[in-house]
Amino acid sequence: MDLGIKGRRAIVCASSKGLGRACAIALANEGVHVTLTARGAEALKQTAEEIRKSHPGVTVTEIVGDITTAAGREAVLKACPEPDILINNAGGPPPGDFRNWTRDDWIKAIDANMLTPIELIKATVDGMMARKFGRIVNITSRR
Ligand SMILES: NC(=O)c1ccc[n+]([C@@H]2O[C@H](COP(=O)([O-])OP(=O)(O)OC[C@H]3O[C@@H](n4cnc5c(N)ncnc54)[C@H](OP(=O)(O)O)[C@@H]3O)[C@@H](O)[C@H]2O)c1
Repeated sequence: MDLGIKGRRAIVCASSKGLGRACAIALANEGVHVTLTARGAEALKQTAEEIRKSHPGVTVTEIVGDITTAAGREAVLKACPEPDILINNAGGPPPGDFRNWTRDDWIKAIDANMLTPIELIKATVDGMMARKFGRIVNITSRR
């Protein structure tokens, strides 16, 4: 199936492993250039190299950083200032019983799963509208 997105640029947050990695591979399969992020450099480099090898026509950029911080977001947006596709993801809070979670735990989860996507959408949506193409997917957690 051709989704008609070949040559587009995507930011895929939190993408060295799991769902983010799967999104990055699926986008690369469609010929989309991908900018990947994660905090751990080793797994990120490995994923980036795997995608590069298997998708020679696709540009793969990896940015090491915490996407829930302003510095992490700034670095990704500097590497890919005009994304056509934004996949928001931040790994999610650890599993557990909500009765045991402190206010700080909740704030951290809201920061990662809601406020971080909002910041990235704010930074990219106007450009998408001006270029008349944009897709935003938010991966979140129900835990
Ligand atoms: N797997 C499922 O079945 C499922 C179902 C529904 C929802 N979800 C939700 O989907 C999200 C992803 O889950 P997953 O299973 O794909 O997780 P995962 O396999 O543990 O992968 C998480 C990825 O995110 C990166 N990451 C985590 N925190 C980050 C941060 N602050 N900044 C940048 N990168 C970060 C990790 O790399 P580093 O640790 O190196 O940063 C890793 O690449 C979570 O919110 C989860 O709750 C998952």
